[in-house]
Amino acid sequence: MQRVCGVDFGTSNSTVAWHDGSQVRLLTLEDDKPTLPSVIFFNADLDEVAYGRAALTAYLDGYEGRLMRSMKSLLGTSMMEGHTEVQGRRLPYQQLLTQYMAELKRRAEGAAGQGFTHAVFGRPVHFVDDDAQADKIAEQSLQDIARAIGFQEVAFQFEPIAAALDYESRLSSEELVLVVDIGGGTADFSVIRLSPQGRAKIDRQDDILSNTGVHIGGTDFDKYLSLQHLMPLLGMGGRLSNGIEMPSANYFNLATWHTINLIYSQKVVREIQDICRDIADAELKYRCECLLHLIEDRDGHWLALKAEEAKIALSSAPQVQLALERLRSKTQRIPVELSIDQWQLQAALQSLFVQLNATIALALKQAAVLPDQIDTIFFTGGASGVRGLREDLATLLPRAKMVQGDVFGSIGAGLAWDAHRRFGCLLP
Ligand SMILES: Nc1ncnc2c1ncn2[C@@H]1O[C@H](COP(=O)(O)OP(=O)(O)OP(=O)(O)O)[C@@H](O)[C@H]1O
Ligand SMILES: [Mg+2]
Repeated sequence: MQRVCGVDFGTSNSTVAWHDGSQVRLLTLEDDKPTLPSVIFFNADLDEVAYGRAALTAYLDGYEGRLMRSMKSLLGTSMMEGHTEVQGRRLPYQQLLTQYMAELKRRAEGAAGQGFTHAVFGRPVHFVDDDAQADKIAEQSLQDIARAIGFQEVAFQFEPIAAALDYESRLSSEELVLVVDIGGGTADFSVIRLSPQGRAKIDRQDDILSNTGVHIGGTDFDKYLSLQHLMPLLGMGGRLSNGIEMPSANYFNLATWHTINLIYSQKVVREIQDICRDIADAELKYRCECLLHLIEDRDGHWLALKAEEAKIALSSAPQVQLALERLRSKTQRIPVELSIDQWQLQAALQSLFVQLNATIALALKQAAVLPDQIDTIFFTGGASGVRGLREDLATLLPRAKMVQGDVFGSIGAGLAWDAHRRFGCLLP
């Protein structure tokens, strides 16, 4: 049996797949599901660590501790050198990532009934935009972590190419395909020639006509929605007595999945307490006190989950009602039920859509193909279903057929095909 697998470490969800000798399979990682949400929770009350859905549940149940989501967004940033704190204990971010990845491997091996020594890891086209050095560091960090958890051989494949390989495994004739992969952290677009004959080739450089990406994904949709509609409920945009606007940095950290924990530091809490004390306007003072209460209860991730919930609901419904039952000050609770509609979501995400459409245009330009030459648009990634994008693509590429891949599984499966081709034949 081979000891080879493909690992899709995602910003929001991770998968592991392997070729079991007859076919590629995604491995079961949690509760009969092939995904393990990329979440870790250090439960200080129970002195234990939880992963995936169980981590989110423990956090939402109100256990004291530290939750971390969107850890992949730390790769290539200076935060990788830093740490978060829980009950006086330092938890370096590097350790958080390593611990999560070790658990991912352990679960995959448990499901496969054997250990894995060789892996192809997925990587976005850019971990970090417009900074080749930081991008290199990000890949190196992932490589180091992969070694630390026991992989002897590690290769990398671009996530959209992996998605293309998954689609190619089902093709019976040649197609020119635009792969659209919009995940939690990044959006990647590749133009690639796929065919049944191509499956056997290891080097696909001639078939990859372009490979572009931008660091925008579903977690940014949550962030922009939150900044527009949730953060003002906590005072963002309000004017202090001296006419100056409430400092915005804390709101940005609170609206960004991987920086939420920064707001829990003593220094930040003292800073916000000082601001609250000096506010004269009763409404703004209440909002500022709600912010303090939210920090005290460590409800930052709860609020981010509310933004995500609204975004997902608006993929299929024209309007959503959000119950924000945890928003309150220490002494007062004014129930908040927020209504957000399609139009408001699109308006909040407008600037991100401009960047996504520009990146798609670049993918086509770099490939030097005319719009009517593209046969197929292949969609994968949880955020690829966001309203508006498909309509734009249908106008841009009117002749192309749209194929929906496995939203959460195509990349893992494609990585396993790649791993099978690269390493499979080398091993007993
Ligand atoms: N129905 C939906 N509509 C819009 N967004 C959705 C929907 N379902 C899930 N998402 C979003 O998709 C994202 C997760 O997608 P996915 O699991 O493909 O990302 P990932 O692979 O972990 O991230 P990346 O590849 O960028 O590292 C999240 O932001 C989630 O909120
Ligand atoms: Mg992904």
